[in-house]
Amino acid sequence: MSEKRKYEVDPVTGSAIHPYTWDGIGELETPPPRWWVLTYAVCFLFAVGWWIAFPAWPYISGYTTGLLGYSTRAEVAEELAAAKAAQAPYNNKLAALSYAEIAADPELSTFAMAGGKALFGENCAQCHGSGANGNVGYPNLLDDDWLWGGDYETLQTTIEHGVRSTNDEETRQAMMPAFGKDGILTREQVDDTVAYVLSLSGTVPADPAAAERGAQVFADNCAACHGDAGAGLREMGGPRLDDAIWLYNGDAKSISNQIWNPRHGVMPDWAGRLDPLAIKKLVFYVHSLGGGE
Ligand code: HEC
Ligand code: HEC
Repeated sequence: MSEKRKYEVDPVTGSAIHPYTWDGIGELETPPPRWWVLTYAVCFLFAVGWWIAFPAWPYISGYTTGLLGYSTRAEVAEELAAAKAAQAPYNNKLAALSYAEIAADPELSTFAMAGGKALFGENCAQCHGSGANGNVGYPNLLDDDWLWGGDYETLQTTIEHGVRSTNDEETRQAMMPAFGKDGILTREQVDDTVAYVLSLSGTVPADPAAAERGAQVFADNCAACHGDAGAGLREMGGPRLDDAIWLYNGDAKSISNQIWNPRHGVMPDWAGRLDPLAIKKLVFYVHSLGGGE
């Protein structure tokens, strides 16, 4: 039970004892230490100062902006503008110089590479892989096996206008005919050609006679785009067939499918989507990946 006593001082601590006791147990009224009270007061004042100076209190359609007018958004915008200004001299130089001149300037190449890499990650990696190593149907850009060519000018044209892109009149075009589906070749001729194509990259044909017949079919129907003996023909975008690098896999079934009813890969055109400087950085980046010519 609670009982009110007279004001007393605890002889041990010297603190007052709260006048109410409960079941005879008193409670000391030791004041909080001075340092604590001071810290509390300072924090309190600091908070009030903060509310006045900085954005603090939300209200229905906004917030108190504070006397200093500080805004993280404005700060980011400023930082971005500063970064852009810092890059401007490099970008101006990049725009003015030729690829060879950029390559000769280590600082500028590093800058172009970094920009190209970021752009590649944003725009190209979903098809060509984040390391540009390609996928089935999407060429590897690290090697020197090019469909269209790996020098600066050729790369620039490919990237600007794409391949078989439907919304660019200057896009690269080459349509491998559907030899089987459209009845240009018989099933036997297609099978013979598959045997021949396999032999080009070193597979010993199970049926040498078939491969030999296929060689003639190839010379008549395929060499115009794939070159003699499948060495590839860049003017036509016809891939090399005499190496171990395949756009669509190099097994008999895949090759047969491609001859019967070919796929026609589409590479988007980028001239309308990226500015010339961005394309320049991309060309420089892709060229320097290892296959540049
Ligand atoms: C939607 C998928 C896709 C995207 C995105 C894409 N590409 Fe391609 N790219 C392709 C395909 C498919 C080909 C092969 C075209 C062909 O069959 O000739 C190709 C071909 C290329 C080639 C020619 C390779 C050669 O061997 O000649 C280059 C260079 C290239 N791409 C660069 C880029 C760059 C740089 C970007 C980003 C700006 C990009 N690509 C974005 C699909 C894509
Ligand atoms: C009009 C040109 C043209 C003709 C003719 C042509 N091709 Fe092609 N061929 C291409 C192109 C272009 C590609 C690449 C397709 C793509 O980029 O999607 C290709 C791709 C291929 C591939 C896949 C290569 C790979 O790396 O995966 C094979 C195999 C092939 N052709 C075999 C043949 C054979 C065999 C013939 C003849 C019966 C033939 N082609 C005739 C243009 C042609």
